[in-house]
Amino acid sequence: MQGRVQYQSEQADEGLYFYDFNVQSHDQKQEILTGLKQSPKTISAKYFYDQQGSKLFEAITCLPEYYPTRTEINLLRQYQQQILERAGEQCLLIEYGSGASTKIRLLLDALKPKAYVPLDISKDFLFACAVQLRAQFPWLEIHATCLDYHREATLPAQLPRDFKRVAFFPGSSLGNFTPSESLSFLRGVRATVGDEGALLIGVDLVKDKGTLNAAYNDVQGVTAQFNLNILSHLNHLGDGNFNAQHFSHEAFFNEQESRIEMHLRSDLDQMVYIFGEHFVFKAGESIVTEYSYKFVPQQFERLARDAGFVSHKMWCDAGKNFALFWLEAEG
Ligand SMILES: C[S@@+](CC[C@H](N)C(=O)[O-])C[C@H]1O[C@@H](n2cnc3c(N)ncnc32)[C@H](O)[C@@H]1O
Repeated sequence: MQGRVQYQSEQADEGLYFYDFNVQSHDQKQEILTGLKQSPKTISAKYFYDQQGSKLFEAITCLPEYYPTRTEINLLRQYQQQILERAGEQCLLIEYGSGASTKIRLLLDALKPKAYVPLDISKDFLFACAVQLRAQFPWLEIHATCLDYHREATLPAQLPRDFKRVAFFPGSSLGNFTPSESLSFLRGVRATVGDEGALLIGVDLVKDKGTLNAAYNDVQGVTAQFNLNILSHLNHLGDGNFNAQHFSHEAFFNEQESRIEMHLRSDLDQMVYIFGEHFVFKAGESIVTEYSYKFVPQQFERLARDAGFVSHKMWCDAGKNFALFWLEAEG
């Protein structure tokens, strides 16, 4: 993780605050060009999330094949009371990659946190969702913060102090990180929540190949649209000329690496310009757009321990598809 950067803050109304760490001003150009020069060519999964990408992800969560969202929501409903007992009263609730803040709504009324801090890279979507959330929960103090959680290790200084910090990281987004990124991310969360803090995290588990492959290859083609939308986001950022019609969505479970791999395969020999540089694609060559690692519980608990957390509880569905872990900071 890198050090803190300048951010702008704005109080939209009494109790609703926006902070912008200026994700766009970071060296996105360098990051994107470096990824496209790798072999295989790679685009970081964070570039899925422009406004359209965030909307498409919300559509994915409603697909019949995409079991993680409904399974995690059922777990949050079923074990709400046990979660509340662990979080205690008046915590500072920090959600990483909050998206539409759908899952946290299930806990807010009962949890009554001191404040809610949604963190996300997709600025317009984050801010629109914070306004909606405030309308639905007028008593809730919200500090919506646009940042890249791979970069910013420190949160806005204006957050309420002296309350237990509970982090929430749903959606198995940890699976999008490489193993070493996962460890450094979890260590960053551990530093953020402090010695009295905790982390509630959703983790997708290893399961049969058929279920996994179907979840990332829905028949309606929404995941394909989501994958291809990354090219239009890149065009926007780097004045590029990727033509989404010349690439195809591909997703499969790599058993050896225990991960879903999502790719965009070039349908023909082509040359693409972006940020003033050109890239040659052979027909059949692919760009890696996402890895989504699947875990076995003991392996995840070991990772958490290495990051300074102890697993106090695991809640899991009957089919052992998805798990929620309650992790407490340990000294
Ligand atoms: C897979 S979605 C999960 C959304 C929601 N938490 C859920 O569980 O349904 C990942 C979310 O993390 C955000 N995100 C992705 N990369 C990020 C990054 N590097 N920094 C901050 N947010 C990021 C995306 O904008 C998106 O809202």
